[in-house]
Amino acid sequence: MRITETADLWYKNAIVYCIDPETFLDSDGDGIGDLNGLAQRVDYLAEIGVTCLWLMPFYPSPRRDNGYDIADMYGVDPRYGNHGDFVELVRIAHDRGLRVIIDLVINHTSDQHPWFRKARASKDNPYRDFYVWRSDTPPDTSEESMFPDSENGIWTHDEKTGEWYLHHFLHTQPDLNTANPQVRDAIAKTMGFWLQLGVDGFRVDAVPFAINQTTFEGHDKNELEEPHDYLRSLRAFLARRSSGNGAAIMLGEVNLPHEEQLTFFGGSDGDQLTMQFDFYTNQKTFLALARQDAAPLIEALNSRPKDIGVEPQYANFLRNHDELTLDLLPEDEQNEVLDTFGPEEEHRFAGRGLRRRLPPMFDGDPRRLKMAYSLLFALPGTPVLFYGEEIGMGENLEVDGREAVRTPMQWTDEKNGGFSSAAPSKLARQVTEGPYGPAHVNAADCRRNKDSLLHHITRLAKRYRESPELGWGDYAVLDQPNPSVLAHHVTWKDRSMVLLHNLGAEPVVVPLTLEEEEPGTQLLDLMSEESCELDQDSSTESQLDGYGYRWLRIKRADDPRLV
Ligand code: NOJ
Repeated sequence: MRITETADLWYKNAIVYCIDPETFLDSDGDGIGDLNGLAQRVDYLAEIGVTCLWLMPFYPSPRRDNGYDIADMYGVDPRYGNHGDFVELVRIAHDRGLRVIIDLVINHTSDQHPWFRKARASKDNPYRDFYVWRSDTPPDTSEESMFPDSENGIWTHDEKTGEWYLHHFLHTQPDLNTANPQVRDAIAKTMGFWLQLGVDGFRVDAVPFAINQTTFEGHDKNELEEPHDYLRSLRAFLARRSSGNGAAIMLGEVNLPHEEQLTFFGGSDGDQLTMQFDFYTNQKTFLALARQDAAPLIEALNSRPKDIGVEPQYANFLRNHDELTLDLLPEDEQNEVLDTFGPEEEHRFAGRGLRRRLPPMFDGDPRRLKMAYSLLFALPGTPVLFYGEEIGMGENLEVDGREAVRTPMQWTDEKNGGFSSAAPSKLARQVTEGPYGPAHVNAADCRRNKDSLLHHITRLAKRYRESPELGWGDYAVLDQPNPSVLAHHVTWKDRSMVLLHNLGAEPVVVPLTLEEEEPGTQLLDLMSEESCELDQDSSTESQLDGYGYRWLRIKRADDPRLV
């Protein structure tokens, strides 16, 4: 048994926590969250058991897309601080045992980025080829835009030079020509810069778009032979620049079915993205939660590619800073989730997803919420939390679009939820009001209440960290007769667990047979004082409440762990 290996590939059993610096904590009273504010709360995050911060874009930006429209990839937007504050933050995080990854946007820049300003100045400007242009009138591409509510298509006509430029997102976010070696070098150089300032890797934005065929076909003389070579070269660069510091990672946003994700890991070579968010399992999980039937989730887990090697890893999540997108589900399944969790038009975003946080989707039911977070930590892979999830924050539907889930962190029941001392009219974003507002949901109250979601998540984080089989192990779904139950088994080296989750509201009894285990083996519930023993047939029964869950450690005689 080499528990020490888990320190090398640290991300395989990390607990990642995503923060938008703009809305976390304002330390200078200007109404905008900042890096110094964030540094004040590193201890809070360490106490929960978070081991890796993911910082959303803090770069100079006109913020037409919450900072994902970057005007300077080397900069820190002065509203959030400066490079000194950034280094201080990374330093305190490292001291408290937390790693730091930052968003890396490789598909596009802001139209205010100097590269694009130069590119659009004339057709022969040296930066022209940093972006993707066409001279002929494009066909109807309205179906291809990622923001169909605000864009008619993916090409916008540029008055000055009379050509069209490509943008899969907003027209203020022109797509980079990633087939151009100069662009690839410039992106790698940016990575090198932030690695030198101490980061432990990157959450790589919109990866499939960055190597999409529209960019690569027919528009560029520098075309790469194989678009995925670009990801390979970034990964190799990352490995060279981070050797000696512990492995740095690329956690990619690839919203595609499992089979296609495999190519983004680099197939069996595993030489592209280190991690990917498991969007498919996320969407099937919501279908399973809506139906109170584990079958869709089981199907998703069984469809994960098994041959991805040791280094690649899936990142699991329930909610994130975007809409809950359902685009990998067929239309009837999308409608089931929308009807169950977003019955009102105001809950929906661009017809394809939900602009909601989890607690209001569950009508605030604490049992169901606790089960859902238990499931998040129990799924094979690395859990990722979005700020405020740990205290059960809700969305603010008064705020436009996806901003509904990006409201200020609720620290206390005081003014502005303790986020800022500024006048409410000066805040970067309105604080949530009503039953999910700071008067009822805030971190300070949660800390005092042992039954809070915060304490639950802290406990889950502890158990997850001491159970590396969850991040590292092989897994199998166990047969049992209750449709509402996911029963799965994870094993890594000599460590094994059985995890039971009841997605339904009714109590159930789960019969289990673990043929490979000796009669008399103990199953210790890590979430309660209860335990049970396998009988002569290596079988037992486990009771689950409605929305109940169990983390059963298989306690063999030679298990070195304390229980
Ligand atoms: C994915 C990000 O999560 C989202 O917020 C953003 O709008 C797009 N990529 C474009 O950068």
